[in-house]
Amino acid sequence: MLELTPEEKNNLPRHVALIMDGNGRWARSRKMPRLFGHRNGVENVRAVVNAAKEVGVPYITLYAFSTENQNRPKDEKSGLMKLLEEFLKKEFRSMMEDGIRLRAIGDLSGLPGFARKIVEDTIDETRDNDRWNLTLALNYGSRQEVLQAISKYGQDNPASDHIPTWEEFSPYLETSDLPDPDLIIRTSGEFRLSNFLLLQAAYAEIFVSPLHWPDFGRDAFIQALSNYAQRERRFGKTSEQIQQPAQPLASS
Ligand code: IPE
Ligand code: IPE
Ligand code: MG
Repeated sequence: MLELTPEEKNNLPRHVALIMDGNGRWARSRKMPRLFGHRNGVENVRAVVNAAKEVGVPYITLYAFSTENQNRPKDEKSGLMKLLEEFLKKEFRSMMEDGIRLRAIGDLSGLPGFARKIVEDTIDETRDNDRWNLTLALNYGSRQEVLQAISKYGQDNPASDHIPTWEEFSPYLETSDLPDPDLIIRTSGEFRLSNFLLLQAAYAEIFVSPLHWPDFGRDAFIQALSNYAQRERRFGKTSEQIQQPAQPLASS
């Protein structure tokens, strides 16, 4: 079993966002229908959430269904929604026991009623849990989120010609009570964001795994954290500035 070194444990991301890709390819390689891949993908969510708890990553966000995924065949979409319902029913008890708070980002009004209801109920029922934070991106698209935010900002600030600062504008995004993702993991070897957290990802580290999502288990997640821990995040500064401890003020 892969373990993090003490140094890596001191350098963990606070928020990991995952683009769970490759369920279809995983199924196809087994000559099975796509939904078989999605079912195994859902099983894997538990493994990754447990790994996050094991090492202490407090915020996990999962890209489960994009705005553009609405263009998939009807059967696949309804299968995914049923899997979502099953997952939330099955996990509810352990979410309460472990102190996991569920949130959702995305336009829930575009989900079938039964799926929307269980998502909203679980959000309500886990509202006071404060140990771990699980966010599902459901019918989510970053561009749509930004357009919504601009519209709401405009309603609250009518006739203002002031260009908002990031601090003024970002509360209008759906992620307003989440820290920015430190690490974005995408499985299945694709190097793209597919309309996921485009603004929040400004300084996220990106890790692409060749594994399909159902195969991206505990050890693969730990491996990604280990890789993250070894990176130098400079946020526009020089390497020297990052490595130098803050200089004490000169005293005479
Ligand atoms: C990710 O797997 C799950 C969703 C987008 C819902 P895919 O279904 O995209 O799998 P591939 O990319 O076709 O292999
Ligand atoms: C991104 O995967 C969306 C989710 C993982 C939910 P897609 O499979 O939809 O992305 P593209 O179409 O390959 O970019
Ligand atoms: Mg895909």
